[in-house]
Amino acid sequence: MKLAAPCLIQLPRFYDLRGNLSFIEEDTHLPFRLRRVYWIYDVPGGEQRGGHAFRETEELIVSLSGSFDIVLNDGKDEWRFMLNRSYNGVLVPKMIWRTLENFSTNSLALILSSTDYSEDDYIRDWEEFIRMNRNK
Ligand code: TYD
Repeated sequence: MKLAAPCLIQLPRFYDLRGNLSFIEEDTHLPFRLRRVYWIYDVPGGEQRGGHAFRETEELIVSLSGSFDIVLNDGKDEWRFMLNRSYNGVLVPKMIWRTLENFSTNSLALILSSTDYSEDDYIRDWEEFIRMNRNK
């Protein structure tokens, strides 16, 4: 499966009076091989994360706790997703500018990534990102 546009996915959820359960399986829910997991937490009110695109990396972003917004832009179209359920995730293809904002208190963002961390994969300059899209 090739990931073309960002999309919201619904993960399995098992309601239980003892507490609910969700899960992610690489082969079922990810359109890429899983290389890395990281998470963002203790975000002070009003702060933003992201503000860059990846050349090759594809990701699934899940709000494990609390809520935040994901704003995505491919240089032409913009998408905004509000994540406030532990069983929803947003799949982000490569070459998409992303910003995470409006973090609630105690929010916890889990990110499943298709690559190992490499600063070389980041495009941190908006103008460069737009230029690269124009030349595609
Ligand atoms: P960065 O991806 O810029 O943060 P954001 O989630 O806001 O986009 O990561 C911030 C710093 O953390 C980066 O400069 C280096 C370090 N880092 C790693 O060492 N490994 C990782 O897997 C990630 C995601 C970041």
